[in-house]
Amino acid sequence: MHLIETRNLTYTYPGNVTGLDGVNFIAPRNARIAVIGANGAGKSTLFKHFNGIFKPTSGSVLVRGEPITRENIREVRRFVGVVFQNPDDQIFSPTVEQDVAFGPINLGLDEETIHHRVEEALRVVGIEHLKDRVPHHLSGGEKKRVAIAGIIAMEPQVLVLDEPTAGLDPQGVRDLVGFINSLSRNYGMTVIFSTHDVSLVPEVADIIYVMHRGRVVAEGDCDEIFTRPDLLSSVRLDVPVLPKLISSLRDQGVDITMAYTFTEAEKQFLAAYRRNA
Ligand SMILES: Nc1ncnc2c1ncn2[C@@H]1O[C@H](COP(=O)(O)OP(=O)(O)O)[C@@H](O)[C@H]1O
Ligand SMILES: [Mg+2]
Repeated sequence: MHLIETRNLTYTYPGNVTGLDGVNFIAPRNARIAVIGANGAGKSTLFKHFNGIFKPTSGSVLVRGEPITRENIREVRRFVGVVFQNPDDQIFSPTVEQDVAFGPINLGLDEETIHHRVEEALRVVGIEHLKDRVPHHLSGGEKKRVAIAGIIAMEPQVLVLDEPTAGLDPQGVRDLVGFINSLSRNYGMTVIFSTHDVSLVPEVADIIYVMHRGRVVAEGDCDEIFTRPDLLSSVRLDVPVLPKLISSLRDQGVDITMAYTFTEAEKQFLAAYRRNA
């Protein structure tokens, strides 16, 4: 059984605007999934179906094999934590610590567990130092981390992050990549995130869905997606710089193995260099 599955999911906004058009999406256990697509591709609309904010116009959404109903929606929201694009919508307490504690308090956990979860969530996203600050006075990137910590503190099995890198500085992006990978490795969490910045995707995703105009136009791993520059440019996206450079060198006859991440590419460049030295 998949953690989340959509079948032929279609969503039409008022005024007959297509949000989603027949999306089939699967989130297996312990996967890191990137949903990439240009502005307006349907990423946020898709994510709003994962915890029952939107109801399908047609098709279905299954969470652990079950449709979302009025009866199970609380449980679904505990299982699937969604962090939306605009952190202001998700932050409302007088201090960061209280804000992150809000979810666990609502779950009815005891004080010690709450304390422990809040400390852990603040640590994971690297904002222990902000715990006594007023959330509304933080920078955009800091607010985003607070919103993410608030969801992590609920310990969902599936963490959904809508455009998590928007508004982050380079160190913020590196930190995000680090903690997505650590949540996956250390907690077995499934992480689904959207972005139109493809450069970080190989570092942080096993499965990639490419969306365009409300549809999934391709899905697969880095090898299946980032070796298709024509597909990506047709949907206003790009190939990350490392595979782009390597495939251009290969086209010019250089004997080098394809690589997607920095570490892998470095290894292949060194190997190619040594073969020729
Ligand atoms: N509230 C809304 N009312 C009408 N159309 C909307 C609304 N929100 C999004 N859309 C449209 O739905 C499509 C998908 O949007 P969205 O899911 O926000 O894309 P993405 O998150 O990939 O940028 C776009 O064409 C967008 O204009
Ligand atoms: Mg969006």
